[in-house]
Amino acid sequence: LAAADPHRPAFHFVSPAGWLNDPNGLTQRDGWYHLFYQYNPYAPVHDRIHWGHARSTDLVHWEHLPIALEPTPGPDVDGCWSGVFVDDGGVPTLVYSGRHAEVELPCVATGSDDLVEWTKEPGNPVISAPPGDLDIVAFRDHCVWREQAAEGTGRWRQIIGAGIRGVGGTALLYESDDLRSWNYLGPLLVGDAAGRPRTAPDWTGTMWECVDLFAVDGADVLVFSAWDDGVTHHPLYWSGRYQGDRFEPLALHRLDLGGRFFYAPQSMRDATGRRLMFGWMQEGRTDAAAVAAGWSGVMSLPRVVTGRPDGSLHQAPAPEVDALRAELLYDGPAGEVGAADVGGDQLDIELDATLPPGASIELAVRATADRAERTVYRLRRAGDEIELSLDRSRSSLDDTVDAKPLAGVVGLAGDTVRLRLVVDHSALEAFANGIPLAARAYPTREDALDVSVDIDGAAATLRVWRMASVD
Ligand code: FRU
Repeated sequence: LAAADPHRPAFHFVSPAGWLNDPNGLTQRDGWYHLFYQYNPYAPVHDRIHWGHARSTDLVHWEHLPIALEPTPGPDVDGCWSGVFVDDGGVPTLVYSGRHAEVELPCVATGSDDLVEWTKEPGNPVISAPPGDLDIVAFRDHCVWREQAAEGTGRWRQIIGAGIRGVGGTALLYESDDLRSWNYLGPLLVGDAAGRPRTAPDWTGTMWECVDLFAVDGADVLVFSAWDDGVTHHPLYWSGRYQGDRFEPLALHRLDLGGRFFYAPQSMRDATGRRLMFGWMQEGRTDAAAVAAGWSGVMSLPRVVTGRPDGSLHQAPAPEVDALRAELLYDGPAGEVGAADVGGDQLDIELDATLPPGASIELAVRATADRAERTVYRLRRAGDEIELSLDRSRSSLDDTVDAKPLAGVVGLAGDTVRLRLVVDHSALEAFANGIPLAARAYPTREDALDVSVDIDGAAATLRVWRMASVD
C-alpha cells in the first residue's frame, strides 16, 4: 500500500490491500457477523477473484480472516465470483459462481463451524449450463432460500442473475432438495431493456447482476444491479409480490441515487430480524491511480432497510455506526457552521430542515476556504418533492477523477427533510429522508476539510460529529 493515501477510508470496511468488489456470503452466526467479499489480494485490479473474509460483533469493527475461497483448477480456475451463505441443517454452505474462461457456473463449498476453512464440492459445477431454451447473455450470482412449508420440509430455491439476448435482464428460478441437484423452473421476472432509454437512471440493463429477493415489513422486493456489456450501471429494485414461481412487479425504484457507487448490494436478516444491506462503493479515480495507491474499492456502511407503506424502501446507516461518533463538533443553526471552525475528513453530519416550496439548501464538505475545492449537496423543494443532488464538479482539482452530477427525487415528510451525511475520506454516503446517495470524491488539497451551509428560504439546524477510525 502507498503510504498514508489520504483517500483511503478510516471507518468503512476496506480490504487489507488489492481489489475489493461485491459483498458476499453475509450471515450472522454464534454472535459474529460475517462479511465475505470479492477480492484480489495481489493487485488493485479485477482479476482472478478470491473470497476475502472478515467478521465483526458490532458491524463496524472488522477482524480480517484468512481468504475463504481461491480459484483452483476446475470450474472456478479463473475466479470465485459472487454468491451467498446458507445454513444447510447446520452445515455452513456457500453457493457461488465459479468462472472458467468466459463462463460462470454455480458451485458449492462447505465450511468449518467458524466459517474459516472451506472445501469445494467435488461435483462442481452443480448446474452445468444455463437453461437451453434461452439465448443467455450472462448467467451468474445467487440468492438462495428455503421455501416456507409445513414441518420444515420446504425445498431450497434460488434465483440466478442473467440476461436474455435481445430482451433484457432476468432472474432465473431453480429448486433443489440438497443444494447440489437443481431443477429449473423458469424466469421469476424478465426486464425490458428496450422499454426505457439506455441513459435513464432506471434503465434495467441487458443483464441483472447480484439478484436479491427478500420480504421486508410485509412487502416483497427484488433487487438487482443493471449491467450491460461490461458496464456496471446502477442498482434497482422492483417492489411487488413473490407468489408461486413468479414475481409480480408493482413499481421499479432506484436503490441508491449514487448509481454505480453503491453497486452489487447483498442483504441478510440478522438475529434481531433486521434487514441489513452492504454495497460496493467502486472507485471514481482511474485504474492507474488505484494501482499507484495499492488498493481499490470500499464496502458501504451497513444499512438497515425497512419497508414503507407503498412498498418502497427506507435506508439508514445501522445504529451501530453511531458508536463511532467521537466528538460533537457543532450543534446549532446550520447557516452559522461556516463561521465556526468545523471540519474534517471523518465526519457524521445531520441536517434537519424545513423546506417550503421554492426553498433550497446547500451543504458543502471537503471544502477549501478559497472554494477551489468543494463537494456540494443540494436539497431543493419542487412541488411535493425534494430533489437531492450532489455536485462534484469542484470536488477535486485532479481532472482525471469522476465528477458527474448525481441526483434524484426524495419524498417529503411534511415540509421537513433530514439529511444524514457520512464523510470518510473519499467515501461519501448521504441519506435524505431514507433515500441514499453514495459517491466517491478525491480532493487534492490537504485543507479541503471545511463544512459550510447556504440557505435559501429554509430553516435548518445542524449537528456535526468527528468520527473515529476503526483500527
Ligand atoms: C458484480 C459482479 C458479479 C460477479 C462479480 C465478479 O459487480 O460483476 O456479477 O459475480 O462482480 O467479481
